[in-house]
Amino acid sequence: MNMIFLGPPGAGKGTLAAMASKSMGVPHISTGDLFRAAIKNETELGKKVKDILAEGRLVPDDLTVALVRERLSLADAAVGWILDGFPRTIGQAEALEAIAAVNLVVNFDVPDEKILFRLTGRRVCKACGKVYHVVTMPSKAEGVCDACGGELYVRPDDREEAIKTRLSAYREQTAPLIDWYGGRGSLATIDGSGTPEAVYREFARIAGV
Ligand code: AP5
Repeated sequence: MNMIFLGPPGAGKGTLAAMASKSMGVPHISTGDLFRAAIKNETELGKKVKDILAEGRLVPDDLTVALVRERLSLADAAVGWILDGFPRTIGQAEALEAIAAVNLVVNFDVPDEKILFRLTGRRVCKACGKVYHVVTMPSKAEGVCDACGGELYVRPDDREEAIKTRLSAYREQTAPLIDWYGGRGSLATIDGSGTPEAVYREFARIAGV
């Protein structure tokens, strides 16, 4: 099954995609993670997008679509995929339509106050990328990843100014995709404000998995 996880920053797309990927055996493809890996590895792409990510702006469509096109051509994507954070503009959605068919678009609905709470409390492992929250999903030892012992850090775009920019980019450029996919009959909106387990149960019900 080819799926898109849509929703505002901090809605829990990545958390749910990791759970769904594990249980369904399909790759979790996060454009944010791909850009962060490029930045970490100091590739040409990483140098181009480093400041854009830190400020919370959207990477231009041409760079983003090329990255996704390449990722979807890899062998593991032949069994299906979960795209997390892509598409984020109508232009990206049109480009994806020409690359592959999408079976289900899951829109995670979460109120603004929860989004801010989730983003400001997020911690990410520098080594393996595992995501925690200081209140809702804390690591066993503060600042240390349970999975690999790596150091936990605050993403540069989880600071207040960048969060504001990300939320306005979402409202202006990404939220219109809800109607765009709604008109194509592939959209299901779920309440993303519960616990990860509760959100997963709702996802599993609508996805039939
Ligand atoms: P990206 O990494 O995609 O960021 P985002 O969309 O802002 O999403 P987040 O990763 O912030 O949130 P999430 O919904 O995955 O939430 P998470 O599960 O981590 O993109 C980063 C940047 O890359 C963009 O700003 C842009 O610059 C660039 N970019 C990426 N894709 C692009 C594209 N297509 N076009 C152009 N530019 C692009 O959860 C958040 C926190 O809440 C965590 O701490 C988690 O532990 C906690 N949490 C999650 N679920 C729950 C729950 N149910 N209950 C309690 N806590 C929860």
